[in-house]
Amino acid sequence: MKQELITFDEKNKVFHLHNDQISYLLSVEDGGTLCHLYFGKKVNNYHNQLRYPRLDRGFSGNLPGSLDRTFSRDSLPKEYSTAGEMDYHTPAAVVRQADGSNALFLTYKNYRIEDGKPDLKGLPHSWVKDKSEAQTLIVTLEDKKTELNFDLLYTIYRDRPVIVRSVKVKNAGKETVNLEKVASMQIDFVDRNFESITLPGAHAHERRVDRSKIHQGIHVFSSHRGTSSHQMNPFLALVDPDTDEFQGDAYGFAFVYSGNHKFEVEKDQFAQTHVNVGINDFNFNWQLNAGDAFQTPEVLMVYSDQGLNKMSQAFHSLIHDRIIRSKYKNEIRPIVVNNWEATYFDFNEDKLKTIVDDAKKLGIEMFVLDDGWFGHRDDDNSSLGDWKVFAKKFPRGLDHFVDYVHEQGLKFGLWFEPEMISYDSDLYKNHPDYLMHVPGRNPSPSRNQYLLDLGRKEVRDNIFNQMEKILGSGKIDYIKWDMNRHLSDIYEADLPANRQGEVYHRYVLGLYDLLERIVDAHPDLLIEGCSGGGGRFDAGMAYYDPQIWASDDSDAIDRLTIQYGTSLVYPQSMMTSHVSVSPNEQNGRITPFNTRGIVAMWGDLGYELDLTKLSQEDREAVAKQVAEYKKIRKVTQFGKFYRLKSSQTSNQCAWETVSADQNEVVLSTVKVMASAQPYLTKTKLVGLDPNKQYEDQATHEVYGGDELMNMGLYDPAEHGDFKAYMYHFKAIN
Ligand code: DGJ
Repeated sequence: MKQELITFDEKNKVFHLHNDQISYLLSVEDGGTLCHLYFGKKVNNYHNQLRYPRLDRGFSGNLPGSLDRTFSRDSLPKEYSTAGEMDYHTPAAVVRQADGSNALFLTYKNYRIEDGKPDLKGLPHSWVKDKSEAQTLIVTLEDKKTELNFDLLYTIYRDRPVIVRSVKVKNAGKETVNLEKVASMQIDFVDRNFESITLPGAHAHERRVDRSKIHQGIHVFSSHRGTSSHQMNPFLALVDPDTDEFQGDAYGFAFVYSGNHKFEVEKDQFAQTHVNVGINDFNFNWQLNAGDAFQTPEVLMVYSDQGLNKMSQAFHSLIHDRIIRSKYKNEIRPIVVNNWEATYFDFNEDKLKTIVDDAKKLGIEMFVLDDGWFGHRDDDNSSLGDWKVFAKKFPRGLDHFVDYVHEQGLKFGLWFEPEMISYDSDLYKNHPDYLMHVPGRNPSPSRNQYLLDLGRKEVRDNIFNQMEKILGSGKIDYIKWDMNRHLSDIYEADLPANRQGEVYHRYVLGLYDLLERIVDAHPDLLIEGCSGGGGRFDAGMAYYDPQIWASDDSDAIDRLTIQYGTSLVYPQSMMTSHVSVSPNEQNGRITPFNTRGIVAMWGDLGYELDLTKLSQEDREAVAKQVAEYKKIRKVTQFGKFYRLKSSQTSNQCAWETVSADQNEVVLSTVKVMASAQPYLTKTKLVGLDPNKQYEDQATHEVYGGDELMNMGLYDPAEHGDFKAYMYHFKAIN
């Protein structure tokens, strides 16, 4: 008999979610208040004594009808706060009611425990392979007046330091209400001096690590761009001041959603830390009719007692094993050549064939035809929405070229931007109403393109049918699903005026629906996500796309920080990274070819340059990199990943990955700036077997695992900026 993961102490009304690594405790307190007791390292038995002390706090009032001045829902750590009652924390939920008020008073109603984990229909979510690997606690809170029920869902996996949370609101009353905010989770901590780690950025500058002290007041990390965004990835970690990559407490929160999000961290009057994560309430207003339900997206909560690397490893394995569904999840990813930075829009079949020929000679495995193959698209001003082959570029049809690529032994990938429309397109001529716009207003262009009103089924059907005409040939092995602008002019033509606050979320649901139909119809298709680089790099997209283009910035030195930040949450196999030309087209930096190759090998490797224009020396370098990568990619894509040094805080970046059996190790180090008379540095490896002997595959020198970990390798003190080194060790006994 498997041990129960969730227990309920009926007498003391305490729920304990536990496995070998973590405990999460919550209890029902006075007046049916659901209180948070603990989340962290496992406790074997909770003896019911360590409760929040009762104190009479001025200006933190008490339960209605009670004379007890020591119990306040304002100070007590809670599981879910709402507006309008004696709890002044930033509410997790705000609901506008028929009488105009927004006051709710949620009290405990009942609970149930289920084996496994329920699916969230229409939303990406973590899942279980069989029911014994997780249990789910569903605690129902009710508001007696409106008869709204809030189901708080908590899943604990048997073998992971993870709790997955979401909320389902059911309207069991008779009147329609409007959800103005519904967070997916709340958690309150007492006596923590947290710092936040977030991943802000910009286009071509995504996911740089920001670490800041949490001061008293409210800190918000959010996107209201309609997507998860380049500007603020849907992730937050709370860490102690002395937490680093290898030690200290780290709590990570990743939102499984690709639209507007909001992470709120409030350090309150008593220095308690209150956290909400959910859909951004900016322009959110969901009409919930009697009998209807609203399911929020879910949040992955990870606890690590050994710093950030352990937190990231837990996210990596959860996202890889239990969010990604693609049949390619465990397959080594093909090495790609993509024609975007090689040709931009200036290509035809003959020109592309020369790149394909060279790719074949160099050992590359897939050719990806990027933007410009459809409609009459010679620049970025036209044709989005017209997914028909551009005859000028492919006079013998696309299939003719695809067959050629396949005959050379390469797979074929094709770029789409399914969510967009150009004014200059047949789709716009025939269906001007498909373009998302507010009636009577001129919508704003971005890259001279506009959004499709994706909340509408008719619009999705049109795009799906067009894509099917291309994908139906069965010859396309991969698609790159791009999205090159953010949402504006928010309006859905099918919705009445009082429901326009639903548009942002309906857009995301529409996107998921379209993706699901494609995934369903083409289970053999490898899908790569993209949004002007890494603008929609989130755990929600991972459910459909096992890999995502990390950034339009392919400069190796910038990529050190972009890929570093990305690795806080997302597994290596999810991150595509390509070698491009130098000087780099995004920032003009000149870097050695070797460095560009080494940095790109830490994800799914590709080339984003014109192979036919390479010097002989660089051609040889590509052939060598491709051959090298084929030897190491199983470990770099799927091994246990460690960040050793960060170029954001030092002059070096060092990454390491170790196979599950500890028999294979890949390490790379990059020194950013050179200096005369450099101080010597060493890189100490981690996660090896101290009793094994490891052979360096290049030099054949042998080191003990303990030597590599305890003594460390001297980093080369070579002349020149931006030098990189890659080591591949294999155990020999
Ligand atoms: C943005 C992507 O990130 C690029 O790789 C490329 O596909 C362009 N869009 C094409 O428009």
